Order: sequence, then structure tokens, then C-alpha cells
Amino acid sequence: MSLLNEVARRRTFAIISHPDAGKTTLTEKLLLFAGAIQIAGSVKARKASRHASSDWMEIEKQRGISVASSVMQMEYRDCVINLLDTPGHQDFSEDTYRVLTAVDAALMVIDAANGVEPQTIRLLQVCRARNTPIITFINKMDREVREPLDLLAELEQHLGMDAVPFSWPVGMGRSFGGVFDIRRDRMRVFRSGADRVGADSDDIIEGIDNPEIVQRFGDSFERATGEMELLADASQPFDREAFLAGKQTPVFFGSAINNFGVQEVLDALVDLAPQPGSRHALQREVKPDETKFSGVVFKVQANMDPSHRDRVAFVRVCSGHFERGMRLKVARSGKEIRPNNVVSFLSQRRELLDDAYAGDVIGIPNHGVLHLGDVLTEGEALQFTGLPFFAPELFQAVEVADPLRTKQLRIGLNQLGEEGAIQVFRPDAGGAMLLGAVGQLQFEVVAHRLKSEYGVQARMMSSRYSMARWITAEDPKDLKKFMDANAQHIAHDVVDAPAFLISSSAQLRVAQEMYPKVQFHALREHG
Ligand code: G4P
Repeated sequence: MSLLNEVARRRTFAIISHPDAGKTTLTEKLLLFAGAIQIAGSVKARKASRHASSDWMEIEKQRGISVASSVMQMEYRDCVINLLDTPGHQDFSEDTYRVLTAVDAALMVIDAANGVEPQTIRLLQVCRARNTPIITFINKMDREVREPLDLLAELEQHLGMDAVPFSWPVGMGRSFGGVFDIRRDRMRVFRSGADRVGADSDDIIEGIDNPEIVQRFGDSFERATGEMELLADASQPFDREAFLAGKQTPVFFGSAINNFGVQEVLDALVDLAPQPGSRHALQREVKPDETKFSGVVFKVQANMDPSHRDRVAFVRVCSGHFERGMRLKVARSGKEIRPNNVVSFLSQRRELLDDAYAGDVIGIPNHGVLHLGDVLTEGEALQFTGLPFFAPELFQAVEVADPLRTKQLRIGLNQLGEEGAIQVFRPDAGGAMLLGAVGQLQFEVVAHRLKSEYGVQARMMSSRYSMARWITAEDPKDLKKFMDANAQHIAHDVVDAPAFLISSSAQLRVAQEMYPKVQFHALREHG
């Protein structure tokens, strides 16, 4: 198959939701419908228990399974679908943002009883900023949930994009009759149960005017037709260009646990979601069907075994053809690697991978050679843009209880910083290292990992800072002047980028007024 065809048949997407909306269930059902797993329950079984004794223990468990289940590849209707999971806990949202840079589309799962929830809104903002096309699945229609028209209105309001229903629910909860497929003018009748894949022909009733529908679903159906008529008048028709530009989202209703509405989502991914596109590098635009390989590290995951400091770098292939054993160059360091034991993520088993194309994700085990944001090529110096680091809002100073372990602390913090588990700042004025986080849990995980992986008993102390801004200036002299005058507030992060640390936004305003030639950034893009 030609490179062009291989690219054309790839679909790479992330699945996003507020915790408990049904992301795990839907993921499992997508795999089931694509034939990638035989038995429902295998993803679920691996999900960390919701009732773990502490939050960070849960995170640890998630970490344990996430190398295996955070990327899943399946084949469906001649397409290769790469599904990237995102951490559910909001304290790890930074990780999620980075995963979103590696996909071409997102599948958003909404709990029909709760509507658009806070965590979903945050994720949506990232998708919006990147114009990522979003397909929406409104889940749990087998429950007493909110009115579908309300849900749609809420979606549009938060999304800032038009929601275009492809299907419409007939009833809900106990009287959930199924969904009407607006495009194909037919109704799929709901039957509960998780043991069926696909629909039997007697589950389908053709035509909106079919008397059988009214006969069987009476009031619920009349109500649904009324709503559909209203929508037909009020809403925009589906426009694929608008969807691809992130201005419209197709909406599907269903019940993941009952395998209902899942097939439609899978088909939408194949039919509507885009194939991998070109990517921006600082140097040039990189096309997915260029013959030369390029890829970018969007996630680094430490292995669980503390005796091996192995890390797996997740690389999104951006162009060309990856073959096992090929020589690759790390653009940042110039180092050459020849990955032989690269893993792919076929239906959750880690398997040795032979080749991969744009849109695929490969895992490269390494000992710290690969950092977040690193670009791998066959030699060309490329730097892809857009991998975000967010200015932390929580800070703690960290010290080691036993001074003899200072070196281990430094190594541990460096590695955890490179992995993106936390941001590490070295104050220019000396003193304790500072940790910056977006969520409180990150500190707990870091303390726990320092102990178990590096044998360091770290002491976390409160810090007076509550804000950081990365600083740049066109003229290095301006930057130096600012840094000299504010030396007590300057620190460098793991990639040696200088940051201004402060305790209030008033301080920031003063600095901005006094030093108009210095730029203060809440977001650092790798490169
Ligand atoms: P998450 O990954 O987004 O956190 O959600 P997950 O799939 O774990 O689903 C959260 C809960 O919602 C689970 O129930 C799951 O069974 C339930 N659920 C998922 N889809 C549907 C649906 O279509 N209808 C209904 N009624 N429930 C659904 P749980 O009781 O928290 O867990 P479990 O005991 O079932 O494992």
C-alpha cells in the first residue's frame, strides 16, 4: 500500500470527558465493535478502582495501566484507528492537554444527566484553541436524564460551536425507545444488554412516517418528531468543512453500557474525522506523506519498576514510514538512536512494532534520552511547535531530609520534570528547589515517587509564590536587565527557560508596566 493510502486510512483521536461520564465504558465498547477485543470488561477490569484508599494510590494504579491502555490501535472498515486516552483526574490536566496535541480529532463523552461539566469545559477550551474537530456522544440515555434540547443548547453555549444532531433520542430512562437516525431516516430500537454487537434487522424501523414507530413508541416518538422538526428549522445543516475547522460538532445519543449508539460513533470516526494532516515546525510545514520519517514526543511515562529507570516516550508519527531498527536523530541533542524494541499498542497488548505511519503512536523505551517535545527525524533539524506547558499556580519548596541524598533528589526532580509530572524551578538566588503544579495531587505523587523510585525522603514546604511567568525579550539585553533587577524572583526550569516567580497579580502588573520590552508568558510552547 502506498504511503498516501496508509495516511488516508488513519484516524487518530482522543477521548475526553468529565470523570464518570462513561469514557472507559465507551472505549471498551469501541474496541469491542472494532473486533479488537473479544470480551467486554477487559478495559474496565483494568481501570483503577474508584474506591481506592487514597487519591494518589489511584493515580499510581492508573500510571501502572496507562502505558498499556493509554494508546489503543484498532482496525475498522479498512481504517486504522488510534485512540488516545486522557487522564480523568483534573490535577493531571496538563498531561491531557499534551495528549490533545497529538490527535487529529476528539470524541467527547457527556453524561446526559449532568450535561457539560467543569473538566469537559477545560478540555474543550484546549480543543477550541487548536480547532480540533469534536464528535459528541451523549451517554446514559437509559437513565432519567435531562431534556435533549436543553443538553444541546448547553453544549452550544459552552462549545461556542454549532451542535448538529445526527441522531435523536426517543424517550429516556425506562421509556427509552431508541434513537432516530436523522440522516438515514430510520429508527434503531433500544434493547438493553451488553452482550450484543451490532443490530439485528428487527431492531431497525425504516422511515419517520412508518406507522409502526408511532404504534410502538406513541407519545415519546411524537415528542421526538416535534423536537426534530424544531431543530430542522432552527439549526444549521451539517457541513464537513465547518466540522473540520472546529466550528460544528456532530452529536450522537446512546448508552455505552448497553452497546447502544456505539457503532454510529465508530462509523462517524471513519467517515467524518480527518486523516492526519500537515504539522507546523518552526522550519517548515511537514506533510504526512513525505517519505522521510518525523515524529514528536508528546508524553513520557516512567515505568513502574523502580529498579529500572526505564521510560517510555510516546511518539506521534508526523510523516514518513517508521521501520523497526531504523536510525533516528533527536533534533534537540543531535543524539542518534536506533530503537529496536519499539512498542505499538494494538488492542492494549504491548507488541513489538514493525512499522508505523503518520497518525500512529509508537512507544520508545529509553533511559532519559528522549524528553517531552523532542523531535525525531532521519537527520533534518525540525522543531514542531505547540506542545504546551502551563504556568503553575501552586508552588512548594522541596528539601531532602538526609543531606547525603541531595544528589538523588536532584536526579529525581530532573527526571520527573522532564517527564512532565511536575515543573521544577531552580531559583537563581540559590536555596531550595521549587516545584510548580497545576493540581495539588501532583505534589503527593512526586513525593511518593521520589521515595519509591529514588530513595529520597523529600520534605515539602509551603512557598510564598503563587504565580509564574516565563520571560522573554527580543533584545537579550532587556531580558538581562530585568533579571538582574529582579534576581530574587528569577528561577530556571528543567529546559533552562527563565521564569519570573511572584505572589500576586499586582506584582506582575507592576513588572509589566516597568519593563514593557519584556514579555511574560503563562504558556510555554516547547521550542
Ligand atoms: P469514566 O471512564 O468516564 O470515569 O466512566 P466509566 O466508563 O467508568 O463509567 C462511569 C459509570 O457510569 C460506571 O458505573 C458505568 O457503568 C456507568 N455507565 C457508563 N455508561 C453507561 C450507560 O450508558 N448507562 C448507564 N446507566 N450507566 C453507564 P459505576 O457504577 O460507577 O461503575 P461499575 O460498578 O458499573 O463499574
